[in-house]
Amino acid sequence: MKIAVTGKGGVGKTFIAGTLACQYAAAGNKTIAIDADTSPNLALTLGMSEAELEKITPIAQNTSIIEEKTRTDYPGVFKLVFTVDDIIKNQSIQTPCGVSLLVMGTIQSMGSGCACPANSVIRNLIGHLITESDEVIILDMEAGIEHLGRGTAEHVDVMLIVTDAHQASLVTAERIARLAREGGIPRVAIVANRVRGEESFTRISDVAKSLEIPIASAIPYDEDILDAGVRGISPVHLDTPATKAITKLKNWIDGASIT
Ligand SMILES: Nc1ncnc2c1ncn2[C@@H]1O[C@H](COP(=O)(O)OP(=O)(O)OP(=O)(O)O)[C@@H](O)[C@H]1O
Ligand SMILES: [Mg+2]
Repeated sequence: MKIAVTGKGGVGKTFIAGTLACQYAAAGNKTIAIDADTSPNLALTLGMSEAELEKITPIAQNTSIIEEKTRTDYPGVFKLVFTVDDIIKNQSIQTPCGVSLLVMGTIQSMGSGCACPANSVIRNLIGHLITESDEVIILDMEAGIEHLGRGTAEHVDVMLIVTDAHQASLVTAERIARLAREGGIPRVAIVANRVRGEESFTRISDVAKSLEIPIASAIPYDEDILDAGVRGISPVHLDTPATKAITKLKNWIDGASIT
């Protein structure tokens, strides 16, 4: 199962991706979470400390790996085909909730076709994980839509588009939904986040209806989650309405994958 979590900046992607990943691990699945955001912070959500996060070198910034994989004897020429299994093995970080974490680092538009060595390594790595591994893979994507153009995200099984009721979040969600559909992603769903009352849910569900996309879960606005974020505490093991709604999301994904 390969799941990409997308949406406008700040809508709750990392909270949802991290909590979902930990729930998959708790259910006994080998789970890899990929932080594909340019300013990575998924590690914190997965229960690592800020000091531990500081020590992580994202793969795209790990010059020795990039060199080792792509260097040839000819200046300006680099290899495009190489194995990545060892990167997955050596660079994935064990997090307290049992999820393996891979921090990708800054990628200059994954789908742009930019032929720089770091991009080539990241593209190969994500491509390999998505098409050949049998783990549960959860991608915490960069905000916005840029990464969707001819990128790797189109090979995922499920694309979750997170949105709250703000107009700007909904507009981005609509754009992502169209691209996802054009990209042929088998399952695309909206995740309504920070839902506060009937009105905010209706705003989101109206957009979902017009796009003919299901709402996989409605996650309420939850002070405990906000508070955990403010205090730098991992929210994944909290037993609150928001984490319960993420369990519902997991059930939707699992149920939907059977049919
Ligand atoms: N359901 C919720 N209720 C209350 N607060 C929430 C909820 N979901 C997320 N938050 C809070 O909203 C903030 C943004 O969440 P998060 O970092 O997960 O968003 P993001 O989409 O990953 O942002 P970015 O685009 O910057 O990576 C965090 O402080 C988080 O704790
Ligand atoms: Mg994030």
